[in-house]
Amino acid sequence: MYYESVIKNSMVVAANGTVNSDIGITNGKIAAIDSNLDGKHVVNAEGLVALPGGIDSHVHISQPSGPGVEMADDFETGTRSAACGGNTTILPFCLPEQGQTLREAVAAYRKKAEGKCMTDVSFHLIVNDTDPVTIGQDLPALIQAGYTSFKVFMTYANLALSDRQILEVMAVAKEHNAMIMVHAENEDAIEFLRDKAELIGDTGPFYHAPTRPIPVEREATHRAISLAEIAGVPLTIVHVSNGETTEEIQRARQRGLKVFAETCPQYITLTAEDLDRAGFEGAKYVCSPPPRSAQEWPKIWDGIQNKTFDIFSSDHCPFRFNDSAGKDAPGARQSFRNIPNGIPGVETRLPILFSEGVVQKRISLDHFAAITATNHARLYGLYPRKGAIAVGADADVTLWDPSLTKPIRQSDLHHGSDYTPWEGFEVTGWPVYTILRGITIMKDGQPIGSPIGQHLERGVADVL
Ligand code: URP
Ligand code: ZN
Ligand code: ZN
Repeated sequence: MYYESVIKNSMVVAANGTVNSDIGITNGKIAAIDSNLDGKHVVNAEGLVALPGGIDSHVHISQPSGPGVEMADDFETGTRSAACGGNTTILPFCLPEQGQTLREAVAAYRKKAEGKCMTDVSFHLIVNDTDPVTIGQDLPALIQAGYTSFKVFMTYANLALSDRQILEVMAVAKEHNAMIMVHAENEDAIEFLRDKAELIGDTGPFYHAPTRPIPVEREATHRAISLAEIAGVPLTIVHVSNGETTEEIQRARQRGLKVFAETCPQYITLTAEDLDRAGFEGAKYVCSPPPRSAQEWPKIWDGIQNKTFDIFSSDHCPFRFNDSAGKDAPGARQSFRNIPNGIPGVETRLPILFSEGVVQKRISLDHFAAITATNHARLYGLYPRKGAIAVGADADVTLWDPSLTKPIRQSDLHHGSDYTPWEGFEVTGWPVYTILRGITIMKDGQPIGSPIGQHLERGVADVL
């Protein structure tokens, strides 16, 4: 056989085991994993590790974020940054603007993304209303059309749903086999703590963390799981930040419930002390849930190692720092309440986990593949087309140099933000090629070629 492309001589972390092998690619699909393959285009991958192209299933791009506030990434820069960080697919969120229906919002996001993407893209929906059109018409139609997952919020004034509303959304998920993702933080408790903090003049970025303490997340997680139990649906708890919340998830699983869980790089590398950096610098680290203390890191690692966490995502939610449309929004220096929530991370998620996880021997390469690609594909209805190196799958492969050591630097990144929370963070193991459906889209940290990313319709999660 003569293949269109061949990746030669890498250590291939394939679905059925790790082998030193070649990968033969034809028509954008993996056609063979074997030795001595020949092809028209050859990538010499001696000394490199071939892993499934990263799937980042928690990314915010071009999402409305309040009056005068703008996200730092559009689909061009967001997917460029994703590709340079070793990703071949991302799943951003689709949030309706005021007065827009969910279906109109999806059409608007599809238009914004059309022709701009370097990686493949598929949208989760955000359900911020439970009016009869959303619940009775739009959601069922959109699930049918391949938007098979949606996020509900228990916090943020204009996004949070009541428990009753969450149950209504869960009922739709149950009827139509969709996956519910929950942002679990108790909004009333946060408001109470924020008002108290502001009254005594505790208004700097640091106070974002103590006004969203661990019990706020632990309680909401317990409640979300209970609501899912009442509705009879599986659910995914996203961006888990601490040990007690991890235990809630473990307890629910012990009771036989189908609860899936996600964590992110910020919860194994950043702390609430970062929010206390001099001047307004702490604003760079404002995200929700907030980074906790370093004592929580080993608890999150335990959760990764014992597979409480199915997926490791970035929660990329980029704002510029030196910008009144970003972290320096009107009122942000007067109160942490007005600092846009979120940090950039789509380009650094995989290198951080490779370095801290694989190189530090906390997780195996197989486990890395599972929590950065395979499980995302399975949870969100993209498997087996995406998420694994296997014959018949899309030829989405990231080649890693496992010994390349350099610090993370904003000047090397490709996102639209003007900073990275991980400036100077030392990483060993970097992606050096990102290959999407057989085509190289990143080489040696630089984007290559035109935007060939496609929109992906998704099926039902294979874990449901
Ligand atoms: O602070 C965060 N995480 N912003 C992004 C929105 C969300 O809640 O995921
Ligand atoms: Zn969230
Ligand atoms: Zn998010």
